[in-house]
Amino acid sequence: MIKFPGDFKFGFSTVGTQHEMGTPGSEFTSDWYLWLHDPENIASGLVSGDLPEHGPGYWDLYKQDHSIARDLGLDAAWITIEWARIFPKPTFDVKVKVDEDGKGNITGVEVDEKAIEELRGLANLAALNHYREILSDWKARGGFLIINLFHWAMPTWLHDPIAVRKHGPDRAPSGWLDRRAVIEFAKFAAFIAHELGDLADMWYTMNEPGVVITEGYLYVKSGFPPGYLDLNSMNIAAKHLIEAHARAYDAIKAYSKKPIGLVYSFADYQPLTPNDEPAVEEARALDYSFLDAPVRGELMGAVRDDLKGRLDWIGVNYYTRAVLRRRQDTGRVAVSVVGGFGYSCEPGGVSGDKRPCSDFGWEIYPEGMYNVLMRLHERYRMPMYVTENGIADEHDRWRSWFLVSHLYQVHRAMQAGADIRGYFHWNLTDNLEWAAGYRMRFGLVYVDYSTKRRYLRPSALVMREIARQKAIPDYLEHYTNPPKLG
Ligand code: FCB
Repeated sequence: MIKFPGDFKFGFSTVGTQHEMGTPGSEFTSDWYLWLHDPENIASGLVSGDLPEHGPGYWDLYKQDHSIARDLGLDAAWITIEWARIFPKPTFDVKVKVDEDGKGNITGVEVDEKAIEELRGLANLAALNHYREILSDWKARGGFLIINLFHWAMPTWLHDPIAVRKHGPDRAPSGWLDRRAVIEFAKFAAFIAHELGDLADMWYTMNEPGVVITEGYLYVKSGFPPGYLDLNSMNIAAKHLIEAHARAYDAIKAYSKKPIGLVYSFADYQPLTPNDEPAVEEARALDYSFLDAPVRGELMGAVRDDLKGRLDWIGVNYYTRAVLRRRQDTGRVAVSVVGGFGYSCEPGGVSGDKRPCSDFGWEIYPEGMYNVLMRLHERYRMPMYVTENGIADEHDRWRSWFLVSHLYQVHRAMQAGADIRGYFHWNLTDNLEWAAGYRMRFGLVYVDYSTKRRYLRPSALVMREIARQKAIPDYLEHYTNPPKLG
């Protein structure tokens, strides 16, 4: 029996674009909503053509999902409050005190009670009340609640990704390229802390800012908005996201004493040969820049006091590894991802290492979970939660192996000293996998999208055994090492 501490959390999560829509009246407009509806994106195959309004319908069916989660022994949830739902209209005119340092950096945003009142005048109060009902229902069932304030969707008055691509960021609402996004996000964070803070056990400001910038401005075939290839834009968006975290941290702290984290997606980077180690260093540097800033204040070679000390815990999303090669064709270190491993495998295939791969073509590589957690532990020594980990596996062929093997590695890292306090499986139910649509099914629970009915997959019962007992019982230990194939 592999035991987790009694207060270790097992959880699930929800994101507006992915889970909320699906019943009449549950729709909301955002940059992602525009993006997924764009005829050119659909015709070119950049996005699947699956629309968010055909989703699992959590907005109205939340009680059912909460009840299933509790039956499965899950005692924690992180739930996203969608900025675009709460503020469908611009908040630019709400006056707040903004400090700047003369170099274009936003070093402080103060959202006082008067500003909160003005924000309330602009907010969609029906949506706010509905979120209160959702969160209260979860709390009433004894659930631990983490509120997430940003999971990629932005209000369209701040980001129109179609217009950015067509006309350029100078002639369109440009999202994280616009420094005002930092200020508006701080207003939103303060408002939610003020209005819903009584329900939160913890917070996090944002999910995977690294994905927002790389998929948005570099890997433009990924199908993420705005699909605008420009390295300079990528760097600007990164800086604004880092500042937005710090300013939102301050804004939340003004109204809530609960711990505030940041969630980041970490691949386990590995060099193809020892000569490729610099490529790994390069890739890790980008990841660490998003944590070095809020922990140590370090950003682009300088130390900023206004960024420093603004992180109470780290959220770790882990799915697989990435094997990297140093490209020889340029003077500086350029990184290539090696196919056949990690995220770059055949859907449903076998990796270069003979490991099974998901429907998405992501290699099952549980050891990477240990490696990532230990590296973060050694560098930051902070409390961590595994905020996402899961597999696209429609027929539930590998999910039990996936779940148990990754939890086993989490446990190993805890034994080795890492302070890990919970594990959130991605996810409870099937949901919209962004540009890839509904074909990628990550749920412990299958969703029939036409009837919205939920059906447990066998792996849900494995999750239940583990979550209820807070342990991997002996009769599931055979799942700790997924088989090699071929
Ligand atoms: C993560 C996202 C999450 C989900 C999983 C599969 O990068 O945060 O919303 O799409 O991948």
